[in-house]
Amino acid sequence: MKAVTYSKYGPPDVLQLKEVSNPTPKENEILIRNHATTVTLFDCWMRSNTSPPGFGLIMRIANGIRKPKQPILGTELAGEIIYVGKDVTLLKKGDQVYGFTGDLGAYVEYMCLPEDGMVSLKPTNMTYEEAAAVPQGALTALYFLRKGNIQKGQKILIFGASGGVGTFAVQIAKNIYECEVTGVCSTSKIELVQSLGVDKTIDYTKEDFTKNGEVYDIILDTIGKSNIRRSKRVLKENGFYLFTTFGLPKLFGILWLKVTSSKKTFFGLLEERTEDLIFLKERIEEGKLSSVIDRCYPMEQIAEAHRYVETGQKKGQVVINIVQED
Ligand SMILES: NC(=O)c1ccc[n+]([C@@H]2O[C@H](COP(=O)([O-])OP(=O)(O)OC[C@H]3O[C@@H](n4cnc5c(N)ncnc54)[C@H](OP(=O)(O)O)[C@@H]3O)[C@@H](O)[C@H]2O)c1
Repeated sequence: MKAVTYSKYGPPDVLQLKEVSNPTPKENEILIRNHATTVTLFDCWMRSNTSPPGFGLIMRIANGIRKPKQPILGTELAGEIIYVGKDVTLLKKGDQVYGFTGDLGAYVEYMCLPEDGMVSLKPTNMTYEEAAAVPQGALTALYFLRKGNIQKGQKILIFGASGGVGTFAVQIAKNIYECEVTGVCSTSKIELVQSLGVDKTIDYTKEDFTKNGEVYDIILDTIGKSNIRRSKRVLKENGFYLFTTFGLPKLFGILWLKVTSSKKTFFGLLEERTEDLIFLKERIEEGKLSSVIDRCYPMEQIAEAHRYVETGQKKGQVVINIVQED
């Protein structure tokens, strides 16, 4: 099968489209013909061995000191089941599924996943492209907002509202939890964030959200660039400050906030729960969530896709078509 692999850390050109052996499903696994995957900032970090400031050594030890331990990137996919192992009972050949592969490996034509892993029937009202663009962003947004004990009617601020996590965080807070949502982003993303149904947008290049007198129950920082000291002041007592990513200097700020204030913080890694994928599928089918797709690239142009994601200009998701849809 075709796969995009890399054998050394480096710029996007280290990615190579190659023929590799087809995977063989185990008895509890499904074999998926992958139609679409995505390029996330995480894929770019893994490829270039970049990490948030202060986490370089830990990342290198985890991912491979001299060369990557996992030579195939890609964390999300959507495709059709073409074979099921003999112990598989929940899914069947022909089912259209979407999934999340925390261990990477989705830049391939065929992929095996355990049926009780991070895979579910895909939303019926989405194409493969749209469905592949859901798992990482939406699972992360849902997980973190729930960690912030999100409740109906609360005031929520999403910092980094235009990216893969942010576009879903806005929709989950607004359309599922019926909150009053403010989205913070740069000038060129304002229109997109407004189109997601937020109550208010703030262009951080023109306005400091901590200075307009508004206070929030939850601040979710999806890109690790909000100012902790100033943001703390506009968080309600017992409010939650949530971080999906941060560098080491910021970690000290978060820990300081934790010990010196009644305001709560949460950071960490997404916990993978299949029931969340199913929950998201149902909300998508109810019309409450949709994917924002910025660009699509064929597998052959994956280096281009990585270059684009690294510009920091991505809106929502960048999709890789493994199978060109009609
Ligand atoms: N904790 C977890 O388990 C977990 C899970 C998934 C993802 N994450 C992390 O969450 C973060 C957000 O993920 P994402 O998929 O939402 O990212 P993304 O889609 O790549 O975010 C893109 C947005 O970030 C803003 N941005 C500003 N400066 C940037 C820069 N130098 N490089 C890249 N983007 C920049 C841009 O918006 P503006 O122009 O409006 O500033 C851009 O629209 C990532 O760091 C990812 O690793 C964590």
